[in-house]
Amino acid sequence: MDAHTAIHQRYSANVYDPDRPVSSEILDQLIDAARQAPSAYNMQQSRFVAVQDLEARRVLRSIAYDQAKVEMAPVVIVVLGDLQSHLTFPEITRADQAAGIYDQGLADYFVQAVQGTYSDPRRAHDEAIRSGSLAAMNLMTEATALGLATSPMIGFDPIKFKETFAIAEHYLPVFMIAVGYPAAGNWPKKTRRSLDELLVRDARPHQKNAFSQ
Ligand SMILES: Cc1cc2nc3c(=O)[nH]c(=O)nc-3n(C[C@H](O)[C@H](O)[C@H](O)COP(=O)(O)O)c2cc1C
Repeated sequence: MDAHTAIHQRYSANVYDPDRPVSSEILDQLIDAARQAPSAYNMQQSRFVAVQDLEARRVLRSIAYDQAKVEMAPVVIVVLGDLQSHLTFPEITRADQAAGIYDQGLADYFVQAVQGTYSDPRRAHDEAIRSGSLAAMNLMTEATALGLATSPMIGFDPIKFKETFAIAEHYLPVFMIAVGYPAAGNWPKKTRRSLDELLVRDARPHQKNAFSQ
């Protein structure tokens, strides 16, 4: 399936086939798609926790306000953002330098910019949400292309999740994504606003437009 079709076919599924597992090869393929997403300065702060075991999913369901799909879907992937990724950022510049993408001067500049900017917890938080969201979208598009269904969720208690699944303080839960093969009973894809409602075409400086008030 091509990207255009996957983007248009994706929908949030509530009903999954609990007897059809997602193989570890497919799980790897999903995370491989997620890690292709862009991130500011290529910080790559998104991390992924796959909850697969049935008992573990039952516990996760109780943390997710009893949403049944958390137990029904064979895997629930929790996207985390590392709020301290600015501290490990030199590892990224070393890898990009070793790959011959840029030189030491630019690497030093990036490290200084990243450490200066993202030592501010608010900016680290916002970036973790942005990057985690892009990674989640890639993951869901890839899953759709592979014939899987997904559901992004923020309906869970992030503090309880971290306590229960032994996640360190500096990781921010960004999304929970149920993944599995769809079963009968799902809603079709929901409606969307029209392009005209969403898009200002040919915006010009200081010219009023649909979003000026
Ligand atoms: C940030 C975010 C949080 C969401 N949280 C939940 C959730 O906790 N439970 C749920 O059933 N769906 C959740 N959804 C799914 C939305 O309800 C769904 O994407 C929306 O209704 C549009 O439907 P579609 O994805 O089928 O096109 C969430 C979606 C987003 C983007």
